Amino acid sequence: MIVSVTDRVHLQPRRGVRTPPYHVGPVSNNVPWPIRSLPAVAKDGQHQPLSANLHPFCRATFARPEVGGLRMSQGMFHTPVMVDEVVDLLAPVPAGVIVDATLGGAGHAAAILASRPDLVLVGIDRDRDAVAEATIRLAGFGARARVHHARFDALGEVLAAAFPEGVEAVGGVSAVLFDLGVSSHQLDDPARGFSYRVTAPLDMRMDRELALTAQDLVNTLDADALARLFAAHGEERFAHRIARAIVRARPVDTTSALANLVAGAVPPGARRRGNPASRVFQALRVAVNEELDLLPVALDQAFATLCAGGRIVTLAYHSGEDRLVKERFRTWSSGGCTCPPRLPCVCGARPVARLVTRGARRPSADEVARNPRAAAARLRSVERLAGDDTGTVQ
Ligand SMILES: C[S@@+](CC[C@H](N)C(=O)[O-])C[C@H]1O[C@@H](n2cnc3c(N)ncnc32)[C@H](O)[C@@H]1O
Repeated sequence: MIVSVTDRVHLQPRRGVRTPPYHVGPVSNNVPWPIRSLPAVAKDGQHQPLSANLHPFCRATFARPEVGGLRMSQGMFHTPVMVDEVVDLLAPVPAGVIVDATLGGAGHAAAILASRPDLVLVGIDRDRDAVAEATIRLAGFGARARVHHARFDALGEVLAAAFPEGVEAVGGVSAVLFDLGVSSHQLDDPARGFSYRVTAPLDMRMDRELALTAQDLVNTLDADALARLFAAHGEERFAHRIARAIVRARPVDTTSALANLVAGAVPPGARRRGNPASRVFQALRVAVNEELDLLPVALDQAFATLCAGGRIVTLAYHSGEDRLVKERFRTWSSGGCTCPPRLPCVCGARPVARLVTRGARRPSADEVARNPRAAAARLRSVERLAGDDTGTVQ
């Protein structure tokens, strides 16, 4: 079943959360080659039907379209991390729908669809560049892939729009993948302002329809608020010194101006933990995109939609998001048990899930050598139990 029109979904705003109108629409495969121009896709939010005589794993060889005024990357949009491990974790899930909640360049999505012909994929990304790239990448899968511009905490609404008759009618949600954080495309595109390595406006919005940028935060928060942000989301020891230096130097408008201020505020001996700008940039990015606020909401929605035997797979790249995932997985797999560890449970808690991974799996040294951005990855998975099962750790 393919939804043939694109619906405009206005998400229910939560307190304090800025919510642009997202477009929820399918990829369908009923328009012949050649591919229509994608500027129209980006402009009006319609995900144009695509068709390609390309194997889905091929990089498209036609001219890349302009998206949001920028030329899409000619090279790799994003190298997916721990792909084989993700595919293996999804091998036992029942046939049905898989949601890729962080579609990016659709590297994971394409590998999963290729390995599981009995799955239909609903892909979500809040970045229109990713939506355009994934639409091209997944065109060869036709009706098995649907791409939506949305935030992942709108997962329930996306599924309701994609399957008006209910997702149960197509076998339920078998798996949800969260590959958190930013894509290489976002980091490498100078205009996005995510990287301290190139000079650019301090932007850092994954969704460029958001009102607030990193520049707004840096130039309006007081020194205490900035310091709390750098400490909480960047685990930066010199958060107060950096915050005071920023406030003294305002306005701070570019990535390199901020990186230089950070470098000047941190004692030279304290640079052993890597470039301090990376922690400050991470903290700002997390705040601009409300990453830690949206993740628990999305995880709960994902778990609520899972069928028995369905799995959530997460890849986290910083400790804050990995901690949130771990806590949710522990609650589901223990049923919220409050009994002391190593004593029999007497509180009556009933696990609703089992941990598929014991602790977090890490990428191999080989993978990190090939793709250094994989180094921080922590892979976890949980499986929903049928009503009368109990949870065990493998
Ligand atoms: C690490 S990349 C995913 C890469 C992807 N797995 C692949 O194989 O190419 C993370 C993606 O998640 C998206 N993203 C992050 N937070 C999001 C959110 N709250 N809702 C929707 N998409 C989000 C980003 O825009 C980015 O494209």
